[in-house]
Amino acid sequence: MNVVMLSPGFPDDMPYFTRGLATVGARVFGVGDQPVQAIPEIARAALTDYLRVGNLWDEAKTVREVQEWMRGRSIDRVECLWEPGMVLAARMREAFGVPGLDVERSIAFRDKVRMKEVLAAAGVRVPGHARARTKAEVRAAVERFGFPAIVKPIAGAGSADTYRLDRKEDVEKALGALDHVSEVTVEEFIEGEEYTYDTISIDGTPAYDNVAWYRPKPLVARLNPWISAQAIALRDLERREIRVGRELGRRAITALGFESGMTHMEWFRNTAGEAVFGEIGGRAPGGRLTHLMNYACDLDLFRGWAEAVCHRRFSQPVDRRYNAAVVFKRAEGDGTIRRIEGLDGLLARYGEHVAHIDLVRVGEKRRDWRQVVTGDGWVVVRHPELETTLRMADQFGTDLRIYAA
Ligand SMILES: Nc1ncnc2c1ncn2[C@@H]1O[C@H](COP(=O)(O)OP(=O)(O)OP(=O)(O)O)[C@@H](O)[C@H]1O
Ligand SMILES: [Mg+2]
Repeated sequence: MNVVMLSPGFPDDMPYFTRGLATVGARVFGVGDQPVQAIPEIARAALTDYLRVGNLWDEAKTVREVQEWMRGRSIDRVECLWEPGMVLAARMREAFGVPGLDVERSIAFRDKVRMKEVLAAAGVRVPGHARARTKAEVRAAVERFGFPAIVKPIAGAGSADTYRLDRKEDVEKALGALDHVSEVTVEEFIEGEEYTYDTISIDGTPAYDNVAWYRPKPLVARLNPWISAQAIALRDLERREIRVGRELGRRAITALGFESGMTHMEWFRNTAGEAVFGEIGGRAPGGRLTHLMNYACDLDLFRGWAEAVCHRRFSQPVDRRYNAAVVFKRAEGDGTIRRIEGLDGLLARYGEHVAHIDLVRVGEKRRDWRQVVTGDGWVVVRHPELETTLRMADQFGTDLRIYAA
């Protein structure tokens, strides 16, 4: 089994997926723009060969270069788990005649308006939405949906350039800030809680799935630097409030014609208790959620994904033992990390429930939390009971303090 893996070493979690492919017996042909020395060792050791291209995003040229490079070797699959490379992967599949998402379907996973059109046509509840290229179109769309509304890029990430609009002045302010974005979508604002629905699917059917709860909603975390945001992989997916989202997620995957691999959907439970679609990617989640899901069930989903795409099997038993919460820390102050407080006390109290700690070190630069979801570090705590998990996560939110100056 020869697998072309796009960007095998970047971002964060890609090396683990790359290793997963080798673990299940695939020969991995990496294609990326990193120099080979920059690829983390975990991934480098898993590669059979690597092609460094000058500009990964010149899609036609990259496809030609890979074709030339792979001449005489068969290609069984083309994989990419990084959002910007999804359409490129689809182009390669079409060019090489390998199974998996084609360009049209991958665009439906990438373009926030297109995906909602497909889903609305299939009867999935989506927020009212409109595509807008000019300021007049934005104003007209806001007029249509009323306040509150949301405006965001068509293909955004990390809640960047996303604005909640509560009154007329907000619209003008957002328009000023969005000058550099050529196309946006305006949506009806959905009040309620926000969750993910993540799967490893085989031929369009989830073989593994997960629901994570965002505390608070990502947009709120993005606007409030003092918040240590959390995501909780929930243990009980059978509760009615969660089941509605799981069902919606399964319908979305079918409607979009997904095949095998990972999906990451976001959805809202509105104040009436209904599930409303948010967005979906045909890829792994960011924000270290794959690790979080691993900790919730003691799984290796990096290998699980690889097994699903290479052998159309998911052989690890899923035992939902824990609720697992990841807490993203943000330092206080600017510049260099000077001290970290509270960790010893927290470990003394909760040590046995702490699954992972990865914090910036004293002397390092504090990170830009607008760019990096994990901020200045992340901690995973887990417990069979949800209440206990939330209490511990909140303690890490408030008592673990990182100071920069
Ligand atoms: N229609 C909506 N109603 C309420 N909140 C919304 C809506 N659309 C977006 N948001 C808020 O803005 C956040 C970012 O929006 P969205 O997920 O579409 O963009 P993104 O930048 O792709 O996000 P990601 O961080 O997942 O890459 C959402 O997580 C949610 O909190
Ligand atoms: Mg999102």
